[in-house]
Amino acid sequence: MTTDMRHAVVEVLKDSEAVAMEMARLLIRTVKEKQQGRVRIALSGGSTPKQLFAILAQPDMARQVDWSRVEIFYGDERHVPEGHADSNHASARELLLSRVSIPAAQVHPMPTAATVAEDAASYQTVLEQAYGATKLEAGRPLFDIVMLGLGTDGHTASLFPGEPVLEEKKAWVGVAAPRTAPHERLTLTYLAIASSALVVFLVTGENKVPMLARLRQGDGSIPSGRIVSEGKILILADEAAAGELS
Ligand code: 6PG
Repeated sequence: MTTDMRHAVVEVLKDSEAVAMEMARLLIRTVKEKQQGRVRIALSGGSTPKQLFAILAQPDMARQVDWSRVEIFYGDERHVPEGHADSNHASARELLLSRVSIPAAQVHPMPTAATVAEDAASYQTVLEQAYGATKLEAGRPLFDIVMLGLGTDGHTASLFPGEPVLEEKKAWVGVAAPRTAPHERLTLTYLAIASSALVVFLVTGENKVPMLARLRQGDGSIPSGRIVSEGKILILADEAAAGELS
């Protein structure tokens, strides 16, 4: 049974700092509570997760995580050279991953050195190797946590309005060339995002009020409104983004 956006749990918190702190605590709890195996986490991009990365990198928070059991993936990436200012991986590495004791082999940036299609295919292979199969199995989620953001046009990851990748039914990783945002993109598809124990949207700021309202209604006319998960869906929003709905 999958969970759709109309059945998402919504937590409205005071501000973006409180949202980041709540997500940090959730991540720490998830690693502690998972008895066996790795904890596979897909990070979101853009500006919203940066406060979370900074909080998790603080020694008193970082030491609460057994990083040897964490495996990091990405929900999407801008197809830019390694280390580029717009790279989601460069940001996560700078703010968090280079400051905690996570084994380098357990950090899986989306590749950007070949064509966007070739890089998407390579990342599919990385995910299949981590999962240990080439077919997603119901009841055995690929990800423990998928973090997602929300664009002011209703996109999430790099699932942008009007993009063919929205209709992808087989691949776990797709490509996008949005007209409303810079750079070609690699993105997890709905199929891969659905193979999750938990999807968490982090949504902060007044400019997100209209799209957050539509996301909460499960409005399928916006890409984020079509997100489903085999597990649970949580929206962590601040009062500014929740507006009257807070
Ligand atoms: C990206 C993201 C994207 C992001 C939203 C929200 O690479 O741009 O993954 O989906 O989450 O655009 O971005 P902000 O957090 O900057 O508002």
